[in-house]
Amino acid sequence: MAKQSPIIAPSILSADFARLGDEASQVLSAGGDWLHLDVMDHQFVPNMTVGPLVCQALRNYGINAPIDVHLMVAQAEPLIEDFAKAGATRISFHPESVKHLDRSINRVKELGCQVGLVLNPATPLTCVSEVLAELDMLLLMSVNPGFGGQAFIAYVMDKIRRARQMIDACGNADLRLQVDGGVKVNNIAQIAAAGADTFVVGSEIFNAENYADIIDQLRCAIAASVNNG
Ligand code: DX5
Ligand code: ZN
Repeated sequence: MAKQSPIIAPSILSADFARLGDEASQVLSAGGDWLHLDVMDHQFVPNMTVGPLVCQALRNYGINAPIDVHLMVAQAEPLIEDFAKAGATRISFHPESVKHLDRSINRVKELGCQVGLVLNPATPLTCVSEVLAELDMLLLMSVNPGFGGQAFIAYVMDKIRRARQMIDACGNADLRLQVDGGVKVNNIAQIAAAGADTFVVGSEIFNAENYADIIDQLRCAIAASVNNG
């Protein structure tokens, strides 16, 4: 079970991009903690989304909440710089997308951002074991990255449990464990019980009629899981 207070990070991948500023401020007023910004380059993943300009535009629009940038790109290094300048709070990248993992982790920190590493469902946890204590966040993908609205891959649940054990053993009490993909009202309690403390939720929130109501349901499910744990 996680010790950190739970964070819900709505993924604006499923928002109405024609009204992005309004959607972002609505989902934050409705109780979202961070804005999760999915950056896709049509190389690392099949889809293509937005770049630093949109992160800056959200800041210019008046979004003050943490912006949690998830880079799904073939070459993360240049974009790390650009997103830091564009107002990102956290920058997470996949180990496959940089040449020197330790150097890139430190670069994010030097730029004044918090740093996360992201593992695809089939990428083993050992891939980050040497640097785990250096991170602010470990992000486990529970779908293959690229699209919103996919189903949670069941075998990732055990990986979340093993990641929680690794984090608890590594001595960095501030390290968050984030899960991204297929997180819903009907499975978030189980994901929290497995040890996640930070939840990316896209389609479940943005497909709902009432953002505050669905975020409340997500929080209640997490709380129920903590109380039963
Ligand atoms: C998928 C993205 C996710 C996506 C999650 O590649 O990283 O952040 O928006 O969407 P849902 O919650 O619909 O699975
Ligand atoms: Zn994401």
